[in-house]
Amino acid sequence: MGDPGIRDRTRGLVSAFDTANVWPSGSAPSPSSPPVTRHLISIDDLSLAEIRGLFALADQFSDDPSGFSDTCRGMISASLFYEPSTRTRLSFESAMLRLGGGVLTAAEMNASSAAKGESLADTVRVVGGGYADVIVLRHPSEGAARLAQEYSPVPVINAGDGAHEHPTQTLCDLYNLHVERGKLEGLDVVLAGDLKYSRTVHSFAYALARFGANIVCVPQPGFEMPDYVLKKLRDELNVEPVRADAARLGQLADRSDAIYLTPQKPHQLSLFTDTKGWQVESVDAVYMTRPQTERYQQDDGSIENYQTLGKQSMAAESLRDAVVMHPLPRRDEISSEIDEDPRSIYFKQDARGVPIRMALLSVLMGRMPLEGMVTEAAVPEPNSWPVGTGDNPCPNPSCVSRTEPRHVVPRFSLPSRAPMRAQCAYCSRELAFRFVGCSTTRRYHRPDSNALRQVRPDHLVFLDDEAQADSMQYIPAHH
Ligand code: NCD
Repeated sequence: MGDPGIRDRTRGLVSAFDTANVWPSGSAPSPSSPPVTRHLISIDDLSLAEIRGLFALADQFSDDPSGFSDTCRGMISASLFYEPSTRTRLSFESAMLRLGGGVLTAAEMNASSAAKGESLADTVRVVGGGYADVIVLRHPSEGAARLAQEYSPVPVINAGDGAHEHPTQTLCDLYNLHVERGKLEGLDVVLAGDLKYSRTVHSFAYALARFGANIVCVPQPGFEMPDYVLKKLRDELNVEPVRADAARLGQLADRSDAIYLTPQKPHQLSLFTDTKGWQVESVDAVYMTRPQTERYQQDDGSIENYQTLGKQSMAAESLRDAVVMHPLPRRDEISSEIDEDPRSIYFKQDARGVPIRMALLSVLMGRMPLEGMVTEAAVPEPNSWPVGTGDNPCPNPSCVSRTEPRHVVPRFSLPSRAPMRAQCAYCSRELAFRFVGCSTTRRYHRPDSNALRQVRPDHLVFLDDEAQADSMQYIPAHH
């Protein structure tokens, strides 16, 4: 079924893969409809065909890096960075300069009008309203780029929103696998280190699952993949999690409860798994991440004995042919003693960030064609809705709906109707509720009630418990 689960998540965007899967379903662009401003907020905003198209463009740019210096002539990109960055910002700016465009940099946004209390929404309106033709945004709040997209007249590229997503790092990572391995489908990719707070890992895992790769999670103990990411992988991307026997990964997995996330169906898996779990035999890539100490909550505890990749761990049988990747910057989790190992590709990986970002910029600014890309659109139906009550039910204190409350109306989307599940439309965090009310009938239901299928999404009200329902004058549906 191609690209499962994408159409229900994109919002205010048009995904451009085969029209049967385009949301809203089947609606083809009409000749008179206005051009669409495409943004890249989540890696899900790109179809697999579009990602492959970007690889092809990146190949052209890396074969002839100085041969495209007129492609974006006269255009300007603005880097708005509210968090530190070296690689992401400089590689975007290098990409824009190589395309013949200009760059505006606000690398220390906390020293700009933000320090005077300007909201992100206003900053984006100003910068996109005449200064720049594309905005590259990094921000500590999860969902910040989604908010920026709502206010920006020009394309917004998410260069990292808190611990949420980092889609252009994922494009770079996928492009590397494509170059090094020639394919993505069926690859076995180990994700190691801080899987909880690494935004690069979250976006990468979603994309790997869509491309049909298998993921072996070998987290630093205590820094496992968050539930909301696992839920999305399982429920929306049809990935089956099974316990993994990672004994052959040696040192890397010796303290970790490994899990194997695979798009294979349970009946196929049962042929291979025994009671010890999936045998991790031979790995195609190890993706190591640093501890994201800047995002730790106080109760996370400190990280001791962080996993490391060095000569000894790379001697494991299953890693014989594995490439070693890292989004960088590294700390001590990859020892410099393996820098010269031909399997270590992290510096090459980083350099490939420039051609893939050239591809993205030139396409979003309409200067290079991308096969299959939708450039005009019918008006999309909304697939997220404002929250019915005045309360913001997003449980995530780092969500932009909490950090920028002046400009955000909390919204949710519905990955599942029965049982009812709702997610924050900004940070993707699952909303917690015990009952769901209908604002017109004033009745409330359990989340697994079939009656909820009849309720219009904009009439849904999420309720913590009976007492809250009672205080809001809702009555139980079965009375
Ligand atoms: C990553 C990031 O910012 O999330 N860095 C990058 O963009 N290359 C990874 C990290 O900081 O650990």
